Amino acid sequence: MSEKNTRYVAKTMMGMEPLVAEELKELGASNIQEKRRAVFFEGDLELLYRANLELRCAVSILKPLFWFRAHKESVLYKQVGMFDWMSVMDLNQTFAITSSVHSEYFNHSKYVALKAKDAIVDMFREHLGERPNVDPVNPDIKINIHVNEAEFDVSLDSSGDGLHKRGYRQSGHGAPLNEVLAAGMIKLSGWTPDKPFLDPMCGSGTLAIEACMVSTNTPANILRKEFGFMNWKNYDEALFLKVKKEAMARITKPQAPILGTDGNYKAIEIAEDAAKELGFSEHISFQKTMFNDLEYTGESGVIIMNPPYGERLNTLDVITLYKGVGDKLKSDFDGFDAWIISSNKEAFKNVGLRPSRKIPLMNGPLECKFIKYEMYRGSKKAKFQITTSE
Ligand SMILES: C[S@@+](CC[C@H](N)C(=O)[O-])C[C@H]1O[C@@H](n2cnc3c(N)ncnc32)[C@H](O)[C@@H]1O
Repeated sequence: MSEKNTRYVAKTMMGMEPLVAEELKELGASNIQEKRRAVFFEGDLELLYRANLELRCAVSILKPLFWFRAHKESVLYKQVGMFDWMSVMDLNQTFAITSSVHSEYFNHSKYVALKAKDAIVDMFREHLGERPNVDPVNPDIKINIHVNEAEFDVSLDSSGDGLHKRGYRQSGHGAPLNEVLAAGMIKLSGWTPDKPFLDPMCGSGTLAIEACMVSTNTPANILRKEFGFMNWKNYDEALFLKVKKEAMARITKPQAPILGTDGNYKAIEIAEDAAKELGFSEHISFQKTMFNDLEYTGESGVIIMNPPYGERLNTLDVITLYKGVGDKLKSDFDGFDAWIISSNKEAFKNVGLRPSRKIPLMNGPLECKFIKYEMYRGSKKAKFQITTSE
């Protein structure tokens, strides 16, 4: 396959496959196929650079190198050693192998990675008398091995660090949302940048910042200094700089207000610092206030919130918190679509509003529901008034 039409795999989170497929379509990718937590696509080098820079809902982008079948480790070692690793890395480059294994023949992903590493360094030794070093933390070349039963897919990771590492977060507060998850939630909510966006428990500001990136057309990874593909033999720096320049030229001003509020002062400071990194200080209004005290007077829009799930709260506090959220939404946010993500099924019951959609999502290891409440009270009342006046 020529560089013009290479096959890639965008890895993503459960439930976000259609979002990534849509993003890839917008970028002009071809042969897009949704799989489990992955989207296959084809494109040239320029598309690969754009995908790394601009995809909001992908975790990493892999370039498949080869695949084989193996039922035992001696075959795995032999097959990995048969590939010409000198075509993808030099002796003086460091490498690391990540692996995911779902197999009855191989049950330790670390062991698979270790065997593959042995095969690679032995191949180098045999041909050059020396071997490249492993750097598990910051490797030049990141190799990914996916094992499904006896089937091995070996790929190069073009992203390097996961694409959630956008570069705007210097420090965290409490339990910050993964940036890719936040971007996916925003997309799933159906929010469009012409409507106000509010996160009233914004913590370090992830949702408000991701929304602002959408609203301003700011590429998700504009602040990233490094991507895995920069260490590849075919790296075309001039092409990457062109891609980046073109993406920056498309950045605009936000169309509607974006607000993040939180009861914790430190959280607001962290959120403001992150927004500043992206030049969003004027675009997002962060404010320290408890949700119950929030006075919102603007147009209706979309609320997305990630309240505490209650692991560190007692039952009464959780009930009070979620009940308070429901009451506040009911009294002050007519016309809004409000979305809440939580892993606490019991707590959801205290919101006291009728859900109109429930989407299962994983927040790290936690099984969550992302639930939509349509705050129709105002419109229902209006309809009622019309009916009675007839
Ligand atoms: C799970 S964290 C949110 C993390 C956030 N999504 C992020 O990415 O950083 C929950 C946040 O809710 C805030 N919080 C809890 N109860 C609140 C309330 N009643 N009013 C306002 N903020 C509240 C906490 O201070 C905390 O920052």
